[in-house]
Parts: sequence; structure tokens; C-alpha cells
Amino acid sequence: MDEPPAPTTATAWQDAGIAAAYAAAPHTLERTVGYPAVFASLLVDRPGPATLLDYGCGPGEAARAAAHVFKTRVCAVDTSPAMLELARARPDPRIDYLQSHDGSLPFLPDASMDAAMCCFVFICVPSRDELDFICAEIHRVLRPGGRFAVLGSDPASIGQAGYDGWHTEPGPYLDGAPVHSRLRGPDGAWQDITDTFWSTATHRDVLADAGFRRVRTRILTSHGPHPATGGLLLVTGDKRSSPHRPLPMDLGGAVSDSESRRSWDGMRRA
Ligand SMILES: C[S@@+](CC[C@H](N)C(=O)[O-])C[C@H]1O[C@@H](n2cnc3c(N)ncnc32)[C@H](O)[C@@H]1O
Repeated sequence: MDEPPAPTTATAWQDAGIAAAYAAAPHTLERTVGYPAVFASLLVDRPGPATLLDYGCGPGEAARAAAHVFKTRVCAVDTSPAMLELARARPDPRIDYLQSHDGSLPFLPDASMDAAMCCFVFICVPSRDELDFICAEIHRVLRPGGRFAVLGSDPASIGQAGYDGWHTEPGPYLDGAPVHSRLRGPDGAWQDITDTFWSTATHRDVLADAGFRRVRTRILTSHGPHPATGGLLLVTGDKRSSPHRPLPMDLGGAVSDSESRRSWDGMRRA
């Protein structure tokens, strides 16, 4: 793929009201089950990452938890200025929040990250081309052997189960179909969200097609005293250790390699 697909943002994550409603939702299953499972998956067979990419960081909850758990440097990226504003309102010196304009990561050199996570982002991406582009870009910035973890709702629960603060039109859904939901904001008003359904098989295929090896999927459910009715999907894959895979795309020369290296080095010194 030569250039990013034209952005087709189904949900207005740029909208300050939607960003605020999302940030205010309790996210109980994510906090108690999802994010801990992502962090554990990044540790299997390996030491904790020294550099971690959080792709589609939203208001920064997972990035803050990761910085705390791993005591590591987190590069947290999002396309939504409204989300980044909410994230930056709760600063952590270990986290750099950066805006991506088209889903690419021109400020990160090849092989500069030890690990990457992408939580509840696939469902916001309305085309398979965009999913492919995102995974190719994450593959590029991971070092050989680096692990990528994707977290989302269990596709089988979407439209069947209730998540706190969300109401989703009943499924079942076909791959690539729009998923209409309403999200209750802090003021009690409902915001309309349009997501896209991606099956577990598509999650697996997207990672495999981007070059990830040992792609694994797991369904996570809550075992707490108040189990959520929905489950979560965790997908992990590893970038092949060697030989180094060629860069899968032309980044358009917007930022040269030395410029991007300087920008990340600058952040690390900051
Ligand atoms: C549902 S929120 C999830 C936020 C956070 N990861 C979490 O776990 O709460 C999805 C986020 O992905 C961002 N996003 C969607 N497409 C993106 C892309 N191509 N590149 C970067 N961020 C993207 C949206 O702006 C939004 O903040």
C-alpha cells in the first residue's frame, strides 16, 4: 500500500461531546479485565517493554495504566484532537501524546517500539483497507520480535450484551457492517455512535496479513462479583525476529527518517 486510505471516520471521535461522553463512561470491564490482560500478554516470554505504543489512545486511560504498570515510556497516538486534549489534561511525564493526521506514524522511526497496544480502535475503523494500513504502520514501528496486542469487544457480544453506558442495536452483524450505538454522556444526554463490526477471523487475518506471526485470539470474561454480560476479544501477534521485513509502505516522504528519529529522540529527552 503506497499511501493511507482516505480517512472515512464513521464516528465523530473528533467531536468534543462524544469524546467527553466516552471519557466519562465507567469502562469497568476494560479497566478490570481488558487492560490487565493486554499488559499480561505483553509480558509472556519477555521482559517488560522499554517503549510502548498506544495506538488510538483516546482519553489515555490505558496509556496511564501501562506507564504505571511497566514504569515505561509510552507513545500515545490518536487522530482526535478532542481525545488528546482530554488525555493531556491528566499528564504523566512518562507519556507523550501525539496526533496522527491520517493514521500514519511519521514521527516514529522503523523498529523504534518494543511493544504496541490498540484498544477499542478496530471497531472505529470503517474499512478493511484502513485496518490493513494501521497494522502495517504498527508492524513497521515495532522492533523485530516486538509484540502487538489488540483489545476490543467480543464480536459475539456486540448487539447481544450490555456495556455500561452503552446501548447497541441488536445483532447479529456481518463483517464490515455498521453498528449503531448510543452512549450516555456525563450530562445524561445520549450521543449517537456508528462503529463497524469486524469478526474474530478478520482481526486475526488483519494481523497475519500485516506480517505478524503467532497470531492468537482469546475471549475474556469477567469473573468479578458483578460479571458483565459482554466479553472482550484479545488478539496478539509478534513481529518476526529476523530477517527484517521490508517497509510495507511509502510514507510519502512527509518526514524523513532522520527527522523522525530526531523527533522521537527529542521526546525521549524531554
Ligand atoms: C473507542 S476509542 C478507544 C480509546 C482508548 N484506546 C481506550 O481504550 O479507551 C477509539 C479511539 O481511536 C481513535 N482512532 C480511530 N481511528 C484512528 C486512527 N486511524 N488512528 C489513530 N487513532 C484512531 C479515535 O479517535 C478514538 O479516540
